[in-house]
Amino acid sequence: MTSTKKNQIIFAPTENTILRAADIIKNGGLVAFPTETVYGLGANALSDAAVRKIFKAKGRPADNPLILHVASIKEASSYAAMNHVAEKLIEHFWPGPLTIVLYSLDSVPLSARGGLDTVALRSPMNHIALNLIKKSGTPIAAPSANISGRPSPTTAEAVWDDLGDGVDMIIDGGRTDIGVESTVVDATCENISILRPGGVTREMLKTVAVLAGGESAMTRRSPGTRHRHYAPSVEVRMWEREGPEIFQNTGGWCYVGMRTPPEGFIKKITFDTPENYARGLFSALRELESCGASVIIAEIPDNAGLGEAIRNRLSHAAGKI
Ligand code: TXA
Ligand code: MG
Repeated sequence: MTSTKKNQIIFAPTENTILRAADIIKNGGLVAFPTETVYGLGANALSDAAVRKIFKAKGRPADNPLILHVASIKEASSYAAMNHVAEKLIEHFWPGPLTIVLYSLDSVPLSARGGLDTVALRSPMNHIALNLIKKSGTPIAAPSANISGRPSPTTAEAVWDDLGDGVDMIIDGGRTDIGVESTVVDATCENISILRPGGVTREMLKTVAVLAGGESAMTRRSPGTRHRHYAPSVEVRMWEREGPEIFQNTGGWCYVGMRTPPEGFIKKITFDTPENYARGLFSALRELESCGASVIIAEIPDNAGLGEAIRNRLSHAAGKI
């Protein structure tokens, strides 16, 4: 695709851009926009036809429900059956990287919720995203703006690489802050379950709500977790322990992680903290898939804090989930 075409799709986040983007949403089109986690591929959540365009552009299975992005708890109450646990979570973590699954009201099209009786809601902590939602006057359904199964995009350029002019507009808000997606929790019961670890950590959730333990937590999965996810085009292998066996033949390999691996890798991308690892993980996977390596060795960090989300994404990328 030509760079002229690219200039007609990617725009800086001016007030005028956001007004035009809101018009696209109102008219049933697709706008990719930044959030604090990753870029989203947005459409009017209340329009069945617009929602179907999202699934088509991403090549996403129709049974994988979308998140409705809203600007306030008041708006959320128009689409889901609120309860006191959800209200407490919202009070603490919205706007922010927490998606709450609740029983849906009939106002949400079945296509947006993958045919389920529940709906996922979140209010993002990014002024471009919030401004777009408000100006559109409708909740915005938005999955991550990547081709289904690929690493999520954390820059406008990565959205372009995957979707090109398959979207009507990409708003360039720079690199996203958190880098991994929101935490998805099921709050339909008194004891909540984490369906996908993400930007709000387990430790943070525990200060506000009771987490279901053991069996019940394991059996309640998010539909999206059934599908392959977050995978670059090159094989990913996880490095968890010191075991040197994984490093016997590093020719043609590359590395991403927080430690310093032995010599011999074609390319290494390292981070100093779990927060920076999370922030740079998806763009590192995208960079490493095109460095000529045949294998990406990815360090698995401790499970604490954002480490849980990083482990989850890498396990998917390595095909271990
Ligand atoms: O940070 C994020 O959450 C980003 C930004 C754009 O907001 N969005 C995102 O959307 O990651 P997506 O579609 O890539 O992931 C949404 C996850 C999927 O695993 C999906 O299955 C799950 O949320 N989900 C959505 N609705 C659900 C529901 N009603 N019940 C259970 N899981 C649901
Ligand atoms: Mg996604």
